[in-house]
Amino acid sequence: MPQPRKIVITSALPYANGPIHLGHLVEYIQTDIWSRFQKMRGHECYYVCADDAHGTPIMLRAQAEGITPETLIARISKEHQQDFAGFNIGFDHYHSTHSVENQYFATTIYERLKAQNHISRKTIKQFFDPEKSMFLPDRFIKGTCPKCKATDQYGDNCEACGATYSPTDLIDPKSVISGATPIEKETEHLFFELAHFNDELKAWTHQGHLQTQIANKLDEWFESGLRAWDISRDAPYFGFEIPGEKDKFFYVWLDAPIGYMASFKALCDRKGLDFDDYWGKDADTELYHFIGKDIIYFHALFWPAMLSGANFRTPSAIYAHGFLTIDGQKMSKSRGTFIMAKTYLDHLNPEHLRYYFAAKLNSRIDDIDLNLEDFAQRVNSDLIGKVVNIASRCAGFVVKKFDGKLCEDWSPIALALYQSFLDKSESIAELYERREYVQAMRDIMALADKANEYIDDTAPWVLAKQPNQQAALHESVSLGINLFRVLITYLAPVLPDTALKSADFLQLTSLQWRDIEQPLVGHIIKKFKPLMTRIEAETLIKMMDASKGDIAAQAPKSTLGSTEATKANPASAPDPVATEIEFDDFAKIDLRIAKIVNAETVPEANKLLKLTLDIGLGQRQVFAGIKSAYDPSKLIGKHTVMVANLKPRKMRFGLSEGMVLAAGPGGKDLFLLNPDDGATPGMRVN
Ligand code: 2FM
Ligand code: ZN
Repeated sequence: MPQPRKIVITSALPYANGPIHLGHLVEYIQTDIWSRFQKMRGHECYYVCADDAHGTPIMLRAQAEGITPETLIARISKEHQQDFAGFNIGFDHYHSTHSVENQYFATTIYERLKAQNHISRKTIKQFFDPEKSMFLPDRFIKGTCPKCKATDQYGDNCEACGATYSPTDLIDPKSVISGATPIEKETEHLFFELAHFNDELKAWTHQGHLQTQIANKLDEWFESGLRAWDISRDAPYFGFEIPGEKDKFFYVWLDAPIGYMASFKALCDRKGLDFDDYWGKDADTELYHFIGKDIIYFHALFWPAMLSGANFRTPSAIYAHGFLTIDGQKMSKSRGTFIMAKTYLDHLNPEHLRYYFAAKLNSRIDDIDLNLEDFAQRVNSDLIGKVVNIASRCAGFVVKKFDGKLCEDWSPIALALYQSFLDKSESIAELYERREYVQAMRDIMALADKANEYIDDTAPWVLAKQPNQQAALHESVSLGINLFRVLITYLAPVLPDTALKSADFLQLTSLQWRDIEQPLVGHIIKKFKPLMTRIEAETLIKMMDASKGDIAAQAPKSTLGSTEATKANPASAPDPVATEIEFDDFAKIDLRIAKIVNAETVPEANKLLKLTLDIGLGQRQVFAGIKSAYDPSKLIGKHTVMVANLKPRKMRFGLSEGMVLAAGPGGKDLFLLNPDDGATPGMRVN
């Protein structure tokens, strides 16, 4: 038997300023499955998490509610933990970043980094709200996008055109807290010199700690150079004061990952574990962080650098996943697809979602889609139609005909079938270990099909009517129950509650992975009670309606629900991995050859040209941000490629009815896609 491993697992810490929603649950379910699997394999495994309780949004929300931040985060922590418990997320400890343990580790790490000269000071210019007397995070400034002129855009990126910029580029910026025009003000900030760790991180990112897709993406960041990270914020701020400084606080993202250590330390104190065995420089235990792909920069660069610089161990691996889409689109409040954990739980069985996510999750960082029709069909057909069905088809006969006792002697055929189920044990375990849950679920369902075929072939309902076939009947239904036990053991990391109910029905004290090596012979089972019910279409409709009601009941989109930083862009780094789209999505884009029949400047816009394009079937007007690169008169008569089916967008200067394709670093070097002049307007390109 291999030695039990010592493993610490974490999921990202949810912000203490909003409810848990289904998007969050992809990660907690993915991690919980892994943690439960490791425990079932006999390893010493601890799964810890905490609320991420600091930062400006939490401070402002508490102010708006007229309560202290401490009261707010205590309430949200309770709500979060209720939601997690509702989805059977089995944390070994759930903590808060606003805790003594976290203050201790944040201070210790900072002081160690400072002692090693990894902390520097710089005076920076930041927007300041003169009415509220506070510096404003980028997300708390709104104005007109400097690129496409869309109004009401955040200070760091434009939701209309996707441009990223600094808040100083915004046209007519306003503080979203007071509505005042912010002023620029100098302030001294503290920085963590990430570049000191350049070589170490470069090596670390290619030593198997990261998914290949991510390691490759990080190479691009190394190429563009690692920048110092701003780790301080000025008062007023809800967080920990920086030792030795006046009115300066640790930025929320500095102490957030340290919250993993803090939560584990609290667990150690509760359980009498030795913290250094897990976090000491030479710890030979394993440490895994499950995160979303938007926070890779923090976890794969800042975090190992902070740990190493402060003489702690670095993570064994960081496992990133993609985002959740609903019916192919981003969860959206306006589309009514923003489903909160609680709303789901009010209507549906958590195990159903756990199974559906498992059936979609693999080790890559692709987004996963929750298609409600597919969800119902999949759960009903796999869990109820295949797995639970096996027990319900056999249990009645065992109880009624054999007093609940499973048979003792098995024929070679029965033994071989049971063995064929056992033979899959290691390969299924391996799939869980590698987070290839999709394949694990497929393999388990293939076994469920096999078990159902066996029951169909032996037809216990026919044997039951034949007095001389009672031994055959006993074997058929006993084997059916045994196969069910194997399947529910394989599914237990995904369906902990159903596994528990099944263990009760089977009169077993636990469902450990290796227990199945001993089949249940001569064993007494209980009367079968339905383990779960089908998903009905009306229930889904009710849940979606309730979600729409939740959204309507919420305040209009305000800063209070927003995050302080754009997570994908912590240090103005690019989005780590752009969302992949299916070929079908690409095929929806109607790319056409267009002839530029007129081009003129737009007096009120610095960067735009107004183009009139002929696409064969008629003319379109498009505003394109290419003025820096092209003299409009030289464009007339040329061909280009346009996205012809983009929904028209109303801009300040008129309607823009598409987009032309251009690429380049910007300024003069911006190149329109310029197909051969022989191309015919209207011709499809993709
Ligand atoms: O992105 C988020 O929601 C952050 N609250 C995650 C923090 S994870 C870790 F660093 F604590
Ligand atoms: Zn824009």
